[in-house]
Amino acid sequence: MSTPVQVQDLQEAEVVFRVKRYSKEKGDYWQEYKLKVDRFTQVTEALRRIKVKQDPSLAYRASCHMAVCGSCGMKINGEPRLACKTLVLDVVKKFGTNVITLEPMDRFPIVKDLVVDMTEFYDRMERVKPRLYPSKEVLEYKAEHRLKPEDQRLLWKFAQCIWCGLCVSACPAVKEDPLFLGPAAHAKGFRFLRDPRDTITEERVKVLADSAWRCTYCYMCYHVCPRDIEPVTAIKKTRALLKSVKPMGPAQEVGHKHSEAVYESIYTYGKINEGVVYVKTYGLIRSLVDMTYAFRAGKAKYALEKVEPVKEVEQVRELMRGE
Ligand code: SF4
Ligand code: SF4
Ligand code: FES
Repeated sequence: MSTPVQVQDLQEAEVVFRVKRYSKEKGDYWQEYKLKVDRFTQVTEALRRIKVKQDPSLAYRASCHMAVCGSCGMKINGEPRLACKTLVLDVVKKFGTNVITLEPMDRFPIVKDLVVDMTEFYDRMERVKPRLYPSKEVLEYKAEHRLKPEDQRLLWKFAQCIWCGLCVSACPAVKEDPLFLGPAAHAKGFRFLRDPRDTITEERVKVLADSAWRCTYCYMCYHVCPRDIEPVTAIKKTRALLKSVKPMGPAQEVGHKHSEAVYESIYTYGKINEGVVYVKTYGLIRSLVDMTYAFRAGKAKYALEKVEPVKEVEQVRELMRGE
């Protein structure tokens, strides 16, 4: 039972940790542990005390306890977070209850309790070759290649990833699309794609160009990243940088048609004409097939609605022409 908590000036409290546990033998089950914590207790510290004093069979991962190693990602009251960067009493205050649920990260196979298998995540990261490939001259100490301050400023943010996987656990596109590299790999990929000292740009382009169009721009990675890396920004920049790369992959081609259709629609109508944009993006045959679903769902009338330009369409066009 959750107890309402007076959050003002909360210095210590008895907290109930509801941990979602899993083992091959027992499957999924919830287990509760009570622990007294003070305002300095991180979730990793609470787990350590539970493991040492109450239940040595509880499994979780943590190493640095200072948001550097990236090993303690989990869901805390449903939010993907680093357990070591989360103070227990902050969660109590935020949710107004002394019951805190701890679950393994979504989208990852569970090994035991809060420990997940990161193999596929690491594979995706490795596919973007997350390291600098300098020129032969630099490697042979015959040349020096310095990064300009403006390049350093651009790349710094994307170099801060600690490979915690929280963004991937929150990303709906990773779940749906096996060809999408995922937010962390894109942040890392862009960091090296845009580095002027790197020498394998062509290879990087092949890996990143199509995948970048598989992101749905939901911004979940932006919200959950404990290092404020904004993987979605890396994806946007990758799209912009590689927009004229040929040959295009399937997602890249659809993405281009879509953005051109949106531009034309706004230029013509001053707003988005959904029906026209859909046909221009996916082609007539697929649109007709999809229309049958719309009919069945009673939504076809929206696609068939006649769209008139907005009154101020000329002003919109002037803006788009930069006048
Ligand atoms: S913005 Fe893109 S990469 Fe980020 S969580 Fe959403 S779909 Fe995934
Ligand atoms: S981008 Fe952020 S959330 Fe994603 S793995 Fe790197 S540090 Fe973690
Ligand atoms: S224990 Fe290293 S990031 Fe949390």
